[in-house]
Amino acid sequence: IVLILISMLLAYLLGSISFAVISSWVFKLPDPRTYGSGNPGATNVLRSGKKAAAVLTLLGDAGKGWLAVGLAQHFGPLWGLGHEVTAIVALAVFLGHVFPIFLRFQGGKGVATAVGVLLGLNLWVGLLAIVTWALVAVIWRISSLSALVAGMLVPFYALMILGFEVSTVAVLVMSLLLIWRHKSNIANLIAGKEGRIGENKLA
Ligand code: G3P
Repeated sequence: IVLILISMLLAYLLGSISFAVISSWVFKLPDPRTYGSGNPGATNVLRSGKKAAAVLTLLGDAGKGWLAVGLAQHFGPLWGLGHEVTAIVALAVFLGHVFPIFLRFQGGKGVATAVGVLLGLNLWVGLLAIVTWALVAVIWRISSLSALVAGMLVPFYALMILGFEVSTVAVLVMSLLLIWRHKSNIANLIAGKEGRIGENKLA
């Protein structure tokens, strides 16, 4: 149990590292929490007009999710832990991103981190999530709509591919949180006010 708690804590701390804030600092951009949707995520960093900063945010936030799950899968068995630790770590890294200790618990919406986590849990579930996101994005060009559609379908993908097991429950909880974090986007979508990808550039 101590090892599980340590893994959870480490995953949470890793998840708390906001690549939106880091990449904005690297590229000398304003803090993403001060413009656009105010969300520290790749979509909002793209509104700065600096594509490379958005790509770094996406890769960093997805990478930390993927890394946490990969480490749990590797070290869990070595430490004599069951595969539940992977599901626990998956949720912990996601929660770190959404409620980061380093940003007074005001984190992102979890899309990139969820993608990384899913790719780590199961390549096919992750790829299906990406394909769903991309298909909706190509048609409507609205990042939040893509995330919402993918978020709603991913638990079914997990159920089909992984079956009913603890990782599937983690995926379901992650999806519900992701959808809940998009409350303001849902309101904007209903009002027809949600911007398209890359719109409202600062530069
Ligand atoms: O990745 C988050 C995205 O789905 C919505 O971001 O900045 O448009 O609220 P944003």
